[in-house]
Amino acid sequence: MEEKQHIGQLFDRIAPTYDGLNHGLSLSIDRLWRRKTVTSMMPCKHVLDVAIGTADLAIEMLRQGKAEQVTGIDLSDQMMAIGKEKSEKRKANITFVHGNAQQMPFEDCSFDAVTCAFGCRNFQNLDEGLREMYRVLQPGGQVTILEFSYPSNRLLRALYDLYFTHMLPAIGRIVSKDKTAYTYLNKSVKSFCWGEAFAAHLRDAGFTDAQFKPLTGGIATIYTAVKR
Ligand SMILES: C[S@@+](CC[C@H](N)C(=O)[O-])C[C@H]1O[C@@H](n2cnc3c(N)ncnc32)[C@H](O)[C@@H]1O
Repeated sequence: MEEKQHIGQLFDRIAPTYDGLNHGLSLSIDRLWRRKTVTSMMPCKHVLDVAIGTADLAIEMLRQGKAEQVTGIDLSDQMMAIGKEKSEKRKANITFVHGNAQQMPFEDCSFDAVTCAFGCRNFQNLDEGLREMYRVLQPGGQVTILEFSYPSNRLLRALYDLYFTHMLPAIGRIVSKDKTAYTYLNKSVKSFCWGEAFAAHLRDAGFTDAQFKPLTGGIATIYTAVKR
């Protein structure tokens, strides 16, 4: 099976329990991270949210008035179906598009800003995904990315390892009833780059002014960069 199909199907399977597990397992800290991510965005008209999933980031940017309209792209129809339901309830101006972040069906320079929360580490090829974000962003626009990272404090690292290696896969398996999805998520978090290394990928894709801000001791990080 092609890798992108595999990822889409994996998220299709866990979609019904995704929001509940996210908020429950993080004690709702993920909501705070998304809020802070949106706070670091410049207000603009049309935002592309890559790997929109169940639309929490898109809904938050509309709530904070950082976007008038959001287009979201994702490989998982089931994740987007839940996002659509939430969006309709709130009458949020969000359009959902099925597609691959590494080959997006959008014109060059067609969005004022691009965002992505917890999506990049799932890309089969991170650099292709970042280059696509650069291509569809208009000059002067900002990319804002929220992703898991790795804490610098030793105690926090030990707790983080315990959580991602043992607790998350076990609880994820029980709640989502999926044997492999949360083991995959654990591996994808631990093998991914963060901090300066991620900022270097942003620069390689063409972005300038790459900055990053660790959250909650470095468990997650917000990255911003600009297309000049
Ligand atoms: C962990 S979820 C994050 C969803 C949402 N952004 C959030 O903040 O909760 C990752 C999402 O990335 C999507 N995804 C993974 N690889 C993708 C790709 N290459 N193109 C588009 N979407 C992708 C998955 O289908 C899933 O919905």
